[in-house]
Amino acid sequence: MQSKALTLTAFGLDNITLTSSELAAPGPDEVVVDLHAASLNYRDLMVTLGTYNPKLEMPRILGSDAAGIVTAVGNDVTRFKPGDHVASLFFQDWLDGEFSAATGKSALGGPIDGTFATAKLFPEDGLIHAPDYLSHEEAATLPCAALTAWNALIEKGHLIAGQTVLILGTGGVSLFALQIAKLHGARVIVTSSSDEKLQRARALGADDTINYRTTPDWDTEVFNLTGKRGVDHVVEVGGAGTLPRSLKAVRPSGHVHLIGVLSDPGAGVDVRPILGKSIFLNGVYVGSSAMFTRMNAAFEHARLKPVIDRTFPLSEAKAAFKHLQSGSHFGKVVLSLKD
Ligand SMILES: NC(=O)c1ccc[n+]([C@@H]2O[C@H](COP(=O)([O-])OP(=O)(O)OC[C@H]3O[C@@H](n4cnc5c(N)ncnc54)[C@H](OP(=O)(O)O)[C@@H]3O)[C@@H](O)[C@H]2O)c1
Repeated sequence: MQSKALTLTAFGLDNITLTSSELAAPGPDEVVVDLHAASLNYRDLMVTLGTYNPKLEMPRILGSDAAGIVTAVGNDVTRFKPGDHVASLFFQDWLDGEFSAATGKSALGGPIDGTFATAKLFPEDGLIHAPDYLSHEEAATLPCAALTAWNALIEKGHLIAGQTVLILGTGGVSLFALQIAKLHGARVIVTSSSDEKLQRARALGADDTINYRTTPDWDTEVFNLTGKRGVDHVVEVGGAGTLPRSLKAVRPSGHVHLIGVLSDPGAGVDVRPILGKSIFLNGVYVGSSAMFTRMNAAFEHARLKPVIDRTFPLSEAKAAFKHLQSGSHFGKVVLSLKD
């Protein structure tokens, strides 16, 4: 079977090329997947620009997640059969338990080849059944963005109904965090650079919204909105540039889930509020297969629909990257792998 793939040959958006190769027959524990859709994650942009891992080995096939249909399985494969609708796992060998150094080496589209391809061989453990009610495009948004938000708030954060969650921005991870928090009965405050996006966040269930451009002291606004108590959880996708305000916005003994690095590094982080307010800092790195299974069960029950901003054909991948880079999107940007 022939596979076309988006391959990075040197850092920079101009160095993504479409390559073609013949897939080997599946080994005993391998599964061949005809990939239909993948989603773009901010990480893929960082990988491409060289800011994720300046020592990335190339050529490297890009892509952190995908969904498709199984076309063939090796003799020892028991969980999948041809025709199954599947999604990839971000960490190909993180089945359950805690994150380990070895786990980090199995991340798609970084240390190993990724998913922006028309077909791919996966180890059986590197796949999961996709929820039946979702299209390929929708299922492809789950393995990285959705699972990260789920791991932060539910698996590690133990979100409780009635708690208040502060969500920064309206990108892929953030909108899944909004949907997951509402699913669990939380009050949600969303920040964004755009009033129009904030209106759309309200339509998705956000209870309160703050424009962080027109209200640069958004932490004070959060404080006021919570009766000067602070929020129980912050979904921190900004990183060093937003963390100082997130530390102010969280309540004593609250949780700050450290997920992203979207903001400028800022002037350095004063660690004293972390001690003085006894804050739980939660470093999150996507999630395991077991977490993905639990998330899918919750999503299926709620019929939760991922928010897709726009879908680009594989041949327009560069335009898709530029769209993500512009920050004008709301939710997920998707690549259709079937032009
Ligand atoms: N740790 C992990 O496992 C993990 C997993 C997935 C993603 N990430 C990281 O999480 C971050 C988000 O990823 P993503 O794929 O969801 O990105 P994305 O979809 O590209 O989200 C970008 C959005 O973030 C918002 N944003 C940008 N700068 C901001 C700032 N200074 N303050 C508040 N919001 C800001 C903007 O929303 P508005 O337009 O509404 O302002 C922007 O549109 C990235 O840094 C990514 O690397 C980490």
